[in-house]
Amino acid sequence: MTWSLGQVREHHDCIGSTNDRALAWARAGAPHGALVTADVQTHGRGRLGRAWESLPGGLYASLIIKPRGAGWSAVGLAVGLGLLEGLARWLPQAQLKWPNDVLCGGRKLAGVLCESRWFGGVAELVAGFGVNVGQLEFPEGLMATSLAIELAGGACPSRQEVLGAALEGLEGVLERFFREGFGGIRGDYEEHSAVLGRRVRVGDEVCEAVGFDDDGALRVRSGDATRRVEAGDVWLATSAS
Ligand code: BTN
Repeated sequence: MTWSLGQVREHHDCIGSTNDRALAWARAGAPHGALVTADVQTHGRGRLGRAWESLPGGLYASLIIKPRGAGWSAVGLAVGLGLLEGLARWLPQAQLKWPNDVLCGGRKLAGVLCESRWFGGVAELVAGFGVNVGQLEFPEGLMATSLAIELAGGACPSRQEVLGAALEGLEGVLERFFREGFGGIRGDYEEHSAVLGRRVRVGDEVCEAVGFDDDGALRVRSGDATRRVEAGDVWLATSAS
């Protein structure tokens, strides 16, 4: 049960992208916490210009967030953590791969795409998330998993149950984040990080992930020097890399 998120909701059997619809709805005056969901997306979008495979069985949702105060650039990490906390009731072993991928057994269970727009000095943020719920197969080449696959033999929750849990997780984490900043959730984010203290590959470089800055950047160490990684992807380095 949530108090502020998902009280106003629009559901589509099929839509291009729930993020696009939520951005337009935000612009037209939708309140904080308004939610767009869909059974299928024809043009689901992922981070870094990638497509998000949005076949039946998955949960596709976009939440309109009206950020409070300043300094919320790490909000994408907060959304990833909220989602992970919601999913933990079924998969407590799930982890976060910076910035906000939810992984299970090294495979992608859920992804987050946050997009913001400024209208007349006021920020409007859309946090889109896709969770693989009932899918049993994925297109070749995708390192993905789903709740149904991970819970093989056990009962798989419905998309509605997963949505409820995700919103509860998000509500708690976002409340703390907007009150205390990233510092208020850093401990929990680090506890569930798949990369912290690990060797990671950033572009062509292999380095060690040593922490997260207040604005959500990843800090990596190579030799004696540390540097920030502000955007992009990191991969867990294999012993061969
Ligand atoms: C990623 O991991 O690259 C982010 C994936 C985000 C996908 C979700 S599905 C609902 C919302 N609508 C979109 O078009 N994308 C996000």
